[in-house]
Formats: sequence, structure tokens, C-alpha cells
Amino acid sequence: MIVCVCNRVSDREIVRHAHVGMSFDDVQLELGVATCCGACESCARDLVAQCSPAHPVAALHDEGAVRSVRGDAAANGGVV
Ligand code: FES
Repeated sequence: MIVCVCNRVSDREIVRHAHVGMSFDDVQLELGVATCCGACESCARDLVAQCSPAHPVAALHDEGAVRSVRGDAAANGGVV
């Protein structure tokens, strides 16, 4: 999906750059995302944040991970 229409930057490109540890500013400089009208900035920032190693919530978007967490909670009497 194209996130930045002005610069034709896709979500995959943003995620690929974020996964190697680039910050939003790095991604912006490298890909040009959010450098024209700025309408894509919040979406692009969210993508980078979700890929950050310091943002473990991203793992919960994986359906298998959610089931695993729920399974662990059930096995531990509801305590995760
Ligand atoms: S849509 Fe990204 S700068 Fe315009």
C-alpha cells in the first residue's frame, strides 16, 4: 500500500527501513516520506514506531502471537 502519495513510498519500504533500526527522521531523509504535503506523516510515524525494537506491541499484531499470549494466560490461571 502506498503511504506517501507525493513520493510514491509504500508501507513495505518504510517497514523495511525501520526494521534495520532507522528512526523516522532517517526514513524521511532516505525515502522522502512526509516531505511534501505532510498528509502521510502520522501513518509513516506509526509504521516506524511499530517496527521499533523498543515497541513490543508490534509482535501482538501477529495473530499467532496473540493466541500464544492468550494460551499462556490460560495455562497460568489467567496470569500472563
Ligand atoms: S503524501 Fe507524503 S508528503 Fe504528501
